[in-house]
Amino acid sequence: MDTITTDHVATLYGKYEDDLRAARDAQRRFLADRGPSMKAQLDDYEAEITYLLLRDLRPEVVVEIGTFYGWSTLWILRALRDNGAGRLHSFDIVDHVVRNVPTELAEDRWSFTQGDVRDHLDEVPTDVDYLFVDADHGARFAHWYVDNLFPRVPAGTPTSVHDVFHGRRPKPFSEGAVLVKWLAEKNVGFFTPSPAKAPDVIHQLAFVKQELGLDEPVRHSDHNPMVYFNLP
Ligand SMILES: C[S@@+](CC[C@H](N)C(=O)[O-])C[C@H]1O[C@@H](n2cnc3c(N)ncnc32)[C@H](O)[C@@H]1O
Repeated sequence: MDTITTDHVATLYGKYEDDLRAARDAQRRFLADRGPSMKAQLDDYEAEITYLLLRDLRPEVVVEIGTFYGWSTLWILRALRDNGAGRLHSFDIVDHVVRNVPTELAEDRWSFTQGDVRDHLDEVPTDVDYLFVDADHGARFAHWYVDNLFPRVPAGTPTSVHDVFHGRRPKPFSEGAVLVKWLAEKNVGFFTPSPAKAPDVIHQLAFVKQELGLDEPVRHSDHNPMVYFNLP
């Protein structure tokens, strides 16, 4: 897959419009049912883009590092369920996610490993088709995954990492700073819906969502700091 463009994402919004509407409604209902005990992290654009890419890429094996209460887990599982294919392997130190994933979404498509992923590297599948990282946002953890996790994963694997662009630049000494420097050194392009980093992206996608009637927020948080790229 080439580096994602806003035009490509806009096309995916149209292509999967109906399924995305259903997924958004289901996520909104889930949030309302759980109330404040459901601490969701991914913002709407980055969650929807993850869903849309997974629909389009149809991965067999997805790895998620950092589930917390399961907001991203639910989005990913909905995409795999809607594809009718694919398995998700999730990792986290805490197991709040386990009580939040409904059986009909987990079925035989989800496995969860509790613990520090650095102690479970051998359990991360090597035949990954999509890698999702939203875990420890410190520089040390980023150094660990670029040195240890990324080399285990096939070159070209579509990957997304959260909490990179809360501003125009990543915070100094953060995970984002390490990752962005590493991407630049490897000459790897990335896509982000972060309005702080790429205001034109959100501008274009907001218009597309409005045209499709998908503009009612699921969550009221608009940082969308995720980056998407293909591993070199
Ligand atoms: C920001 S939260 C994830 C939010 C989630 N993706 C969502 O969409 O709601 C980060 C999670 O990463 C987990 N985490 C932090 N360091 C980790 C590590 N070394 N191994 C596994 N999980 C880790 C934390 O326990 C926490 O639940």
